[in-house]
Amino acid sequence: MGRTAAKGGINVANRHLDSTASGHRGPETSTAQPPAKSVMAPPEGTSESDRRTVLAERLRSQMAGGYWPGYVHSYPHKRAYRPLVSMDMRATWAGVTDLNLYVHVPFCERKCSFCNLFSYPVPTHEMRHVLDAYVDAVVRQIEYYREYIPAPRVTSLFYGGGTPNVLASDQLARIQEALTEAFGTREEDVEECIECSPDRLSPEYIRELRRLGFDRVSIGVQSFFQEDLDHVNRHYSAKDVYEVIQNLRSAGLRMNLDLIYGLPGQSESSIMRNLDQVAELGPECITIYPLAVRELTGIGRLPQSSLMSTRDKYALYDRVRMRLEEAGYTCQTVVRYVKSDSSTYQQQRLEYAGVPTLGLGAGARSYAPSVHYCLPYRVQSGLVSGIVRDFLKSDFGSAQHTGFLLGPDELRRKHLTLSLLDPGISIGSYERVFGASFDFVAELGALMDAGLVESQDGDFYALTRMGRKYSDVAAGVFQSERVTELYSAYRPE
Ligand SMILES: C[S@@+](CC[C@H](N)C(=O)[O-])C[C@H]1O[C@@H](n2cnc3c(N)ncnc32)[C@H](O)[C@@H]1O
Ligand code: SF4
Repeated sequence: MGRTAAKGGINVANRHLDSTASGHRGPETSTAQPPAKSVMAPPEGTSESDRRTVLAERLRSQMAGGYWPGYVHSYPHKRAYRPLVSMDMRATWAGVTDLNLYVHVPFCERKCSFCNLFSYPVPTHEMRHVLDAYVDAVVRQIEYYREYIPAPRVTSLFYGGGTPNVLASDQLARIQEALTEAFGTREEDVEECIECSPDRLSPEYIRELRRLGFDRVSIGVQSFFQEDLDHVNRHYSAKDVYEVIQNLRSAGLRMNLDLIYGLPGQSESSIMRNLDQVAELGPECITIYPLAVRELTGIGRLPQSSLMSTRDKYALYDRVRMRLEEAGYTCQTVVRYVKSDSSTYQQQRLEYAGVPTLGLGAGARSYAPSVHYCLPYRVQSGLVSGIVRDFLKSDFGSAQHTGFLLGPDELRRKHLTLSLLDPGISIGSYERVFGASFDFVAELGALMDAGLVESQDGDFYALTRMGRKYSDVAAGVFQSERVTELYSAYRPE
């Protein structure tokens, strides 16, 4: 492969620098996509070593300034999606064998003041009726996709939201059966996970989840303190959470607990006490998010001065990580801590390894081999409910999608971004996947120079401890100029 690497220095021979030809099949977009360049690319004609210096300098100044671009968990971010003029589903999914399934349930009992996820609150008395219609539509959508992805090997199943446990068990059963009917029986070791809010998990419901094939439950706890929960419009008590966890354990379900730090009114000491509580409960996986302040949410309307600064959240990250490591957890991504490799979030790991995902339901994103797409995305509840209403009537063939086409250059950037986040970048595997020499030498070199990435063997480059803390910033070196432009031009509605 003609390449050597040392700490602080990479030397890659025979670099393949032209990778911008468009090779996608499938949809067309209404926005022409010119060749992508790095977001942080210095002016044309700059030498590679100068580029590396400029990039490293920029990374250092972003970290020093407490800059946080938001979570990076896919590439590109959905803010870069734009309306797709047409989609040829057969071409979009051609050749796909391994497949993750994601089902989105865009309903909640009430809207939390921090949340901009694709969901809206449905009054309790309307829930059954609305969800019956929704399940009918999801089942039709599953049938629609069946002919485009015949006999796949299903590698994971995830229900996210919203709050999927607003579905009654018979409604969940209908979706589970339709998935089996369309895509075959899932192997024993395929993780079937459902996101749940703790206030709708009775012992009977938990037993039903087990019976329906789920083996992992991800629960939004956010905090064990009543005043934190009240502040963000969540209605359950810490006592409920303890009971739920006991019942999940008795039913043999693995679990993830979500927490947030930096909520209004939270102090450092209350955050640390939350960690003590969660560590004592000892779930297989803990996901602890720094609060993301989102436009058009309740918290997004609060004065900036009443919220924790990004710099303070970075400082807390170090304490959070240390506390959870003392409790026996390993930090796997910037937000995820696991007891062992097998207690992870399987669907995300498979996506990062390149397995496509079929998204079902309104608001679900599909990651096909060369296009990422979904139905239009909105934040405001009134607009979300309008999109859900259209979904209920949809024949799917003529649905208007929004998305992003990935040509060869963007596919490389996606591969590098996701590999960087988990588990690390392997030059050898990059060259095997793309059949070309590694061509992001300045970017990788800059990450090393800024102390964010290191390599023991010259092939595998992993985030350092500091790199993990700043992984969302680090990932930015692989973002193309095109994605940056689209991302910046996006205005949430
Ligand atoms: C779909 S919800 C989990 C299931 C359920 N809807 C619930 O809230 O209990 C996904 C998770 O994203 C996290 N989350 C959502 N918005 C966030 C924000 N603005 N900042 C940080 N974390 C956020 C929360 O921890 C939440 O549990
Ligand atoms: S955090 Fe969960 S329960 Fe709250 S609004 Fe968002 S999706 Fe719904």
